Amino acid sequence: MSSSSAAIGVFDSGLGGLTVVRAMMRRLPAEALVYVGDTARVPYGPKSPVTVQRYALQIGEWLVEQGVKCVVVACNTATAHALPLLQTALPVPVVGVVEPGARAAARTATRGPVGVIGTAGTVASGVYERAIHALRPELSVISRPTPLLVPLVEEGWLEHAATRLVVREYLAPLKRAQVEALVLGCTHYPLLAPVVRAVMGDDVQLIDSAEETAADVAATLADHALLSSPSRGAQPRHRFIASDAPQHFLTLGQRFLGGALADVEHHVFT
Ligand code: DGL
Repeated sequence: MSSSSAAIGVFDSGLGGLTVVRAMMRRLPAEALVYVGDTARVPYGPKSPVTVQRYALQIGEWLVEQGVKCVVVACNTATAHALPLLQTALPVPVVGVVEPGARAAARTATRGPVGVIGTAGTVASGVYERAIHALRPELSVISRPTPLLVPLVEEGWLEHAATRLVVREYLAPLKRAQVEALVLGCTHYPLLAPVVRAVMGDDVQLIDSAEETAADVAATLADHALLSSPSRGAQPRHRFIASDAPQHFLTLGQRFLGGALADVEHHVFT
């Protein structure tokens, strides 16, 4: 039986899930977080569903061993391939990022089409189309894999000329199709929002599932009576774990999270 004072477990294949952490810190400031970035095995995007399921289960089980009260899958590819598995296998509530993003897209779009960009694995799984059509069957959805964006973010090239070129090339068909909203269906992509916005123009709504996911986590904790009660003046203690190159994670992670990231532990998942 989990206690409300336990931490929330969060994982991603690398740094991108810190966009969800940032939203959770804003929405749930009293909650302690344990974040795993699987930097040894990033990217998950091109890997087979069965491999991603194995990685996700290893990390989910490890987070449960650390005593977390719920697990947030802050990775679209892991959510696409492994969410039902984790929800069955782990003894705590598990929240993914696809459903919240799809809900935001279905709420935002008036006429469509809706564009979705993500990793090869996420796009091939068709998970966003299914989730959007479950809510708005009439909306047309156009999905495109954009695999080069993840290494550009992991490199910290958020405003680089090479990044602008790649984004322009990838988004050209979506621009031609005049999408009304664009789901940033990968936890790394919100960090590229300024470049994506410059390419798509101000009329296209960019959907970042981080805020919606944080709202889902809050609702899930409330449903299970697991919301932590704020203790006077005390800041929650966060832990960050990388499965490889913790120093690189620390340097780039600090850019995304500022002071919240003071130290990164190293853990090898086998
Ligand atoms: N975290 C992954 C996602 O949100 C992107 C990075 C990767 O391919 O591992 O889909």
